[in-house]
Amino acid sequence: MKDYMKVPYGYLQRQFAEPEPILARIGQLVKTGQLTLGAEVERFEAAFAEFIGARYAIGVGSGTDALFLSLKALGVGPGDEVITAVNTFVATAGAIETAGARLRFVDCNEKYVLDPNKLEAAISPKTKVIVPVHYTGQPVDMSAIQAIADRHGLAILEDACTAIDAGQNDVRCGAWGKLAAFSMHPIKNLHVWGDAGVICTQKPDLAEMLRLMRNHGMTDRDTYAFYAYNSRLDTLQAAVGNALLPEVRNHTDNRIANAFAYDLAFKQVPQITIPPRPAQDRAVYHMYMIQVEDRDGLLAYLKQKGVSAKVHYPVPLHLQPASAKLGYGPGDFPVAETQAQKIISLPVHPYLTQEEKEFVIEKVLQFYGK
Ligand SMILES: Cc1ncc(COP(=O)(O)O)c(C=O)c1O
Repeated sequence: MKDYMKVPYGYLQRQFAEPEPILARIGQLVKTGQLTLGAEVERFEAAFAEFIGARYAIGVGSGTDALFLSLKALGVGPGDEVITAVNTFVATAGAIETAGARLRFVDCNEKYVLDPNKLEAAISPKTKVIVPVHYTGQPVDMSAIQAIADRHGLAILEDACTAIDAGQNDVRCGAWGKLAAFSMHPIKNLHVWGDAGVICTQKPDLAEMLRLMRNHGMTDRDTYAFYAYNSRLDTLQAAVGNALLPEVRNHTDNRIANAFAYDLAFKQVPQITIPPRPAQDRAVYHMYMIQVEDRDGLLAYLKQKGVSAKVHYPVPLHLQPASAKLGYGPGDFPVAETQAQKIISLPVHPYLTQEEKEFVIEKVLQFYGK
């Protein structure tokens, strides 16, 4: 039994140890001189839309821009309220505020996603959009949320930034709502060599508007339909995306297999709570997140043994300084607050070796005296 093994949380150095094939693609692209939008971006958008099962995909500069531009396309602005989960990454909240709306948070459930049972209480006459987040790569209960949104005439913008290739009842995350935002930041399940994002929609009018919004409102070089923004998907990043998209399914399956091995080992440990794994969900484990007793003790123990684990995140958004003006306080979102004390994310990436996986399991079990 080894006492120490370096098990990194990330894996980009392994994935891109031999970058030559992608560099060759970029070399070809550079020779064409087409370095903004163009055929490479169109090819990526078509492939991504097909992969998700959406009619349209629009490449943009980041996942945050995908959220922001989608909110603007839905007409969100000052005086509106937008609802999201309180345990999401800061970017979801940041995009809502940047769009000019007031943030309304809802607590999460044991799957770490917006609890549909608590959604209706947050809806007011000012509510315009609901932004459920498929956090950790775990699908939100979309049919329940859709039913509430329909009843109140509200649009849904899925934050699918961490949920490429996730799904529920054979519908992929990103194909349910009116609009969906994806991130291809380097730590995401499909990533490029920098920042990039994608918006998916089934609606031709929204697709057309977003295509204009991400490129100065230009219908052609000399005509501007409205004044807008520059958030084009970088053409070089589209080339990286085109190279990596065919590998996503395989990567996801590796993540799922790793998570399955962890679940199997950890379900015998009373100090560990594994989130529910409903049969109709295809979770893609952007994070393998569990709740544990003595979380900080386990973190320190794993670090000492060489295993890099993380906490996503120790302070829920309503308790952040940025939320002070919203009027929330401790106790308002008890599930997220309790989880913030107990959650830990273990390395689950597709390049994890069998030996590393076994080492992580062994050290976690050891910490709890198993
Ligand atoms: C849930 C969630 N939403 C939005 C984003 C923003 O994506 P990006 O970093 O590409 O702007 C991220 C990731 O960073 C995320 O995890």
